[in-house]
Amino acid sequence: GKLKMTAKVVSQETLATDVYSLVLEAPEIASQAIAGQFVSVYTHDGSKMLPRPISLCGIDREAGTLRLVYRVVGFGTKEFSQLAAGDTVDILGPLGNGFMKSDKKAILIGGGIGIPPMLQLAKELDCEKSVVLGYRDEIFLNEEFEPYAQVYMSSEDGQHGVKGNVIDAIKEYGVDGAVIYACGPTPMLRGIKAYAMEKGIECQISMEEKMACGVGACLACVCKTKEIDEHSQVHNRRICKDGPVFYAEEVEL
Ligand code: FES
Repeated sequence: GKLKMTAKVVSQETLATDVYSLVLEAPEIASQAIAGQFVSVYTHDGSKMLPRPISLCGIDREAGTLRLVYRVVGFGTKEFSQLAAGDTVDILGPLGNGFMKSDKKAILIGGGIGIPPMLQLAKELDCEKSVVLGYRDEIFLNEEFEPYAQVYMSSEDGQHGVKGNVIDAIKEYGVDGAVIYACGPTPMLRGIKAYAMEKGIECQISMEEKMACGVGACLACVCKTKEIDEHSQVHNRRICKDGPVFYAEEVEL
């Protein structure tokens, strides 16, 4: 089960503008975490700040470490970006469900800061797979996928891979598979869901982008599902508690 612990910082480096890679010593969490899960990271300010959910980019069970790749978007993540080797930080995890792995030919799709969790998934999936990475302009992590799969890219400015989005890249390069695993911004997930339904491909999406506290406290992450309860009411779900990974057809985007 999940546990709260004080983790020691092993290292931190910058991958791109405002994108950081933080490695933490957290053997108890690393031993049980799987791709698609996240940890909530606490700030040191002592006020009532909620923790920040950050997905796991790497899980090294032997070394007992977790790797978090995140973007600085505000006060909390700014604080995390200043952590250095030897510092400590409180974390809670592993949280959420992970991807449901199968051995079907897979397409892994990551958009922007939704790319990091796909790297751990690429390592865990023991099957034929392709990776499609969507960027705005600056690229990061792409080379780290190369040992695991053929990597295709899209970027908004066309500097890297196809000019456009991940669906444009899939079409341009003829990427195919029987299951899609995706993580990224909501408009991207909406496009992927539509594509998967059109093609009749199984599709799992991580909606982690919509989380704020990650621990069920803020309700920023409520989403509608297709489930109707006994009172004919649409069943709402909290992404941080019931997800962040869902089958695309189960949720409204
Ligand atoms: Fe705060 Fe889910 S992210 S309740």
